[in-house]
Amino acid sequence: MTLYKAPRIPSSEITPRDLYLRRRSLLGLMAGGAGLLGAPSAFAAALKTVPSPYKVDEALTPRESVTTYNNFYEFGTDKSDPAANSGAFKPSPWRLVVDGMVAKPKTFGIEDLIKAYPVEERIYRMRCVEAWSMVIPWNGFPLAALLKTVEPLGSAKHVAFETIVRPEEMPGQTGGFQPLPWPYVEGLRLDEAMHPLTLLAVGLYGETLPNQNGAPIRLVVPWKYGFKGIKSIVKITLTDKQPPSTWNVLAPQEYGFYANVNPAVDHPRWSQASERRIGTGGFFGSSRVETLPFNGYADEVASLYSGMDLTANY
Ligand code: MTE
Repeated sequence: MTLYKAPRIPSSEITPRDLYLRRRSLLGLMAGGAGLLGAPSAFAAALKTVPSPYKVDEALTPRESVTTYNNFYEFGTDKSDPAANSGAFKPSPWRLVVDGMVAKPKTFGIEDLIKAYPVEERIYRMRCVEAWSMVIPWNGFPLAALLKTVEPLGSAKHVAFETIVRPEEMPGQTGGFQPLPWPYVEGLRLDEAMHPLTLLAVGLYGETLPNQNGAPIRLVVPWKYGFKGIKSIVKITLTDKQPPSTWNVLAPQEYGFYANVNPAVDHPRWSQASERRIGTGGFFGSSRVETLPFNGYADEVASLYSGMDLTANY
């Protein structure tokens, strides 16, 4: 694959939003060619997208930070490991199975999905349970659109998600120390899964997802802690039971099933009242900002939890 090389613009001279727009127009000129400024994923390609009303008006986290400061334990436990160790991962071809309590179970290819559902440009505030945050321009389509296609049965109450297991391409899944049981799994209640904010992302910054961010398809639920955002999904199953969630199974006293961002409920080992906003205060630096209930999306999602004690259901 030929990579486009452009002169580097000192990042100190431009805001992340300028950088984004520059890249978007550059990619537009390249008419579908793969390439970008900075460190590319081997598979990054321009995506055709449509605008979306779901955009927070906050400075974007630079692409370099979004793609080099990651959690993806299949590639190692350090923040720099996923970018460094995911080069051999092959996100294409890919099959996504959607099954369980649905009238029309189906296996999709990523190309089919991108053709069937308009890929939107959304800008979401993202909050990791480790008390750091980013503002990321995702490209994706609502999970609800996909679920409607397979027609959930009345008995379906939850949605279970599963990441691929591929030790030959994922060094964190081999060797003596394996940090998590595989596959990484996650779950949502059906009403959370059907909420218009819940996104299946296939790209970021206008390009297909880099491997380290969950290529070729991952979940994004902006009002929840980042660990709910399961990456490189191969299976989505509708069920009548609350599905397992990797971090909740591993340490239930520290990570709840709901994992709604809640500044009033501290993690047992640290406060959740504020967060480090990555990429502010210098290109790779960070400044501290107050954490908002439901990560600032309370107006849209608080009603999903009316009547629930959110200190018990964390
Ligand atoms: N998905 C899988 N399969 N494996 C993981 O280790 N880490 C989670 C989530 N999804 C993880 C995963 C955590 S803890 C976070 S904060 C987000 O991915 C990070 O997403 P990002 O690296 O794209 O910011």
